[in-house]
Amino acid sequence: MTSFRWGVLGSGGIAATFTRDLQLTGREVTAVGSRSQGSADAFAERFGIGAAHGSYEALVSDPEVDIVYIATPHPYHAENALLAIAAGKHVLVEKPFTLNAAEAEQVAVAAAEAGVVVLEAMWTRFLPHMARIREIIAAGTLGDVRTVIADHDQKLPSDPNHRLNDPALGGGSLLDLGIYPVSFAVDILGLPERIIAHATLTATGVDRQTALIFEHDGGRQSLLHCALDTRGPVTASIMGTEARIEIDSWWYNPTSFTVIAPDDTVLERYETPDSGVGARGMDFQAAEIERVIAAGESESPLLPLSQTVAIMGVLDAAREQIGLRYPGE
Ligand SMILES: NC(=O)c1ccc[n+]([C@@H]2O[C@H](COP(=O)([O-])OP(=O)(O)OC[C@H]3O[C@@H](n4cnc5c(N)ncnc54)[C@H](OP(=O)(O)O)[C@@H]3O)[C@@H](O)[C@H]2O)c1
Repeated sequence: MTSFRWGVLGSGGIAATFTRDLQLTGREVTAVGSRSQGSADAFAERFGIGAAHGSYEALVSDPEVDIVYIATPHPYHAENALLAIAAGKHVLVEKPFTLNAAEAEQVAVAAAEAGVVVLEAMWTRFLPHMARIREIIAAGTLGDVRTVIADHDQKLPSDPNHRLNDPALGGGSLLDLGIYPVSFAVDILGLPERIIAHATLTATGVDRQTALIFEHDGGRQSLLHCALDTRGPVTASIMGTEARIEIDSWWYNPTSFTVIAPDDTVLERYETPDSGVGARGMDFQAAEIERVIAAGESESPLLPLSQTVAIMGVLDAAREQIGLRYPGE
């Protein structure tokens, strides 16, 4: 494997989790960048990272960084990605890719013009169980795949100042949690032709819970749900005329699934192999962007930027129906 040097932009929760996975899987994190020197220093010390930058500008200008990983709240993803692209870096951008489709398109255009690889960190796409599911569907085992059902309901902090509840930080369940079932439905059934969205908002004005019905090509359907303050099963099912797949909780993490015939005979039981190093599984998205760069490709066939932009468009359409606009939109 060609070796790449990673730079982490932002020093919060997921930055730490991903950095840990990079290091556990033998990758080199050469730098971290934070809005404050103190946070950069603390993060660098915690993970044994050589360079601690007190600004995002300094991080993206670091010649010892090949790929920048963006781990800031969603409203900052576009400006942070554009900063890294302008510095000639490849970029892995946390989900949701941006706040809306217009921003996503801007980033996609900039990436193409700069000739760098930019990938949405929708890590589920790159997990081994999803690769096996796509094989099973391609082999025709499920027959005509008609329906996807998935939830992503979590019990998260109720503090109104937490980014999840704050409109200024892109709060709400749809963009943070619902993006997983939405991206999953698009992966399995393609982009929806029609969308119905209903939501209940929080006192802070973001979506507390959102229900989505998608109609896809040929009248196929997805039923998706997300919520910020209730713990759901976090399971997913794919129903075809010849069999169904039931993905175990948490379906969007490395997990197991069962392929079941209409008479309930088990056709296959899949268990994700243990990484052996204690990684969460976020390293698979790192492996994919590294593979794309090393192969001289422009984007990942598993999640092309055009699809990332289209998925942001689906979220825009759902937000239009539920009346959720973010400041500045
Ligand atoms: N893939 C996953 O499983 C997963 C899980 C959780 C979150 N995420 C995504 O990752 C992103 C970050 O989420 P998180 O949970 O890591 O958030 P977090 O813990 O709040 O960290 C966000 C970091 O962004 C930086 N930042 C820049 N501008 C900020 C602002 N105005 N307010 C607050 N922080 C700001 C801060 O780093 P500095 O102070 O160092 O600049 C902060 O530590 C979100 O887009 C979220 O959707 C993904």
